[in-house]
Amino acid sequence: TLLPILLAALAYLLGSVPTAVLVCRSMGLADPRQLGSGNPGTTNVLRQGNRTAAVLTLLGDVAKGALAVRLALYADLGSIQTGLCALAVLLGHIYPLFGRMRGGKGVATTFGLCLALSPPLGLIALGVWLLLAAIGKTASLASVGTALITPLATFMLLPEQLAAISLICLLLVLRHRDNIRRLLGGQEHRL
Ligand code: G3P
Repeated sequence: TLLPILLAALAYLLGSVPTAVLVCRSMGLADPRQLGSGNPGTTNVLRQGNRTAAVLTLLGDVAKGALAVRLALYADLGSIQTGLCALAVLLGHIYPLFGRMRGGKGVATTFGLCLALSPPLGLIALGVWLLLAAIGKTASLASVGTALITPLATFMLLPEQLAAISLICLLLVLRHRDNIRRLLGGQEHRL
């Protein structure tokens, strides 16, 4: 039927909503794509010094990922099709239809989609991120580390989504190439 295709397209569109840009614009802050790391995401909005804007960005990006998966689950799609909707929302966030395909790095959206697929998986990913962030005081290091560990947790908790989550985590790591270069050079921004 058409339903899985429609829901995947909807997930992509949902992912395309540029939360950080909309939040900053509505609060009279500078465009996060023009400042700091240039990334429209929570960490870079926080660099502008506005915690409310950062929290709103986080909530919006988490909600996008969660909603795309909730819709697929609600429609009772099979696990492959649900995984494709999860991948679609992430692709929308990273390569948005709006904003010349220049989106974010996908960390918050991945957290949201994991949480909706399996709350324990989402909470483990969150715990790992917070732990790594507390140790390294660097958002990107925590994000890359969590992206490496999450497939392992998926293998144990939700093996039917291992392929989708592994692909998503691979995209996250690739999306952090500049951060990885800065981390290796000791030049990454700290939290
Ligand atoms: O959440 C994105 C984070 O992992 C890196 O963001 O702005 O430091 O490149 P940023």
